[in-house]
Amino acid sequence: MTTTATASGDLGAAIARAAAGLRTARRVMVFTGAGMSADSGIATFRDAMTGLWSQFDPQALATPAGFDADPPLVWGWYESRRQQVMLATPNAGHAAVAQLQRQRPGWQVVTQNVDDLHERAAAAAGVPPGQAPVHLHGSLFAARCHHCARPFSLPPGLPGEPADGRLLPPPRCAACGGPVRPGVVWFGEALPRAAWKQADAAARACDAMLVVGTSGVVYPAAGLPALTLSLGRPVWVVDPDAAGAGSHPQLHHLQGRAAEVLPLLAAAIASG
Ligand code: OAD
Repeated sequence: MTTTATASGDLGAAIARAAAGLRTARRVMVFTGAGMSADSGIATFRDAMTGLWSQFDPQALATPAGFDADPPLVWGWYESRRQQVMLATPNAGHAAVAQLQRQRPGWQVVTQNVDDLHERAAAAAGVPPGQAPVHLHGSLFAARCHHCARPFSLPPGLPGEPADGRLLPPPRCAACGGPVRPGVVWFGEALPRAAWKQADAAARACDAMLVVGTSGVVYPAAGLPALTLSLGRPVWVVDPDAAGAGSHPQLHHLQGRAAEVLPLLAAAIASG
């Protein structure tokens, strides 16, 4: 049965129920999407009006063919997103997840996000490196050669912008001279094999899953909550939209923003 709590209704009671379930769980997979970073000022992809894919063409900016057609446009777009992330800070939701991870070694973050806000919150909270987030869709900070896949070290500091506003071509690979591309997964590309293996194993092994801020439409990642449900384990969803994470009837919804709900949930887990 679906349980949906709203801020005006029984959110507190639903958080208490979720806390009771999560407190006793030894292994918890925290599965996050763009909504996790929305309260840090990073745009989601599919929110009406503000979502990136309502303003930009994913075919031009998130496919290998788009990069081949216009490397400076695509490189520049990801560099400006990287700059935005570097100027942002983890929100109270990231901090709450990191606090839970530090207290509970069996909590594992699996994210579709390409930012480093989970890492920065974890470092601030003293989470051991063994609990580093699994990045299913790559990272803005892991550029590589488009031809030979050799990793490319991005220069430290904020990405530069040309004074005349013209887009710069991507850097060239030191080994083969190919253009350097952002280290994110584009439409039509396979997920990084090791990350997918870890995520799939975590979804199968967890006693409970906590999903935060994903519309649940991009596969194969979107299939992970259903996998955990199919094994008889509970899945809670934190999202302001009641349709967050898709419409599986067994999802328990905690309807609200990550920065609002997750600190309440962490406090409720700690107080039990
Ligand atoms: P979407 O933009 O599809 O979904 C964002 C979800 O976050 C929605 O369910 C929103 O309701 C919810 N949301 C918005 N604000 C929130 C907040 N403050 N707190 C919590 N939730 C909030 O983003 P993803 O599901 O992450 O792929 O998108 C999946 C993939 O599609 C992305 O990883 C990206 C994109 O194309 C690649 O880059 C490969």
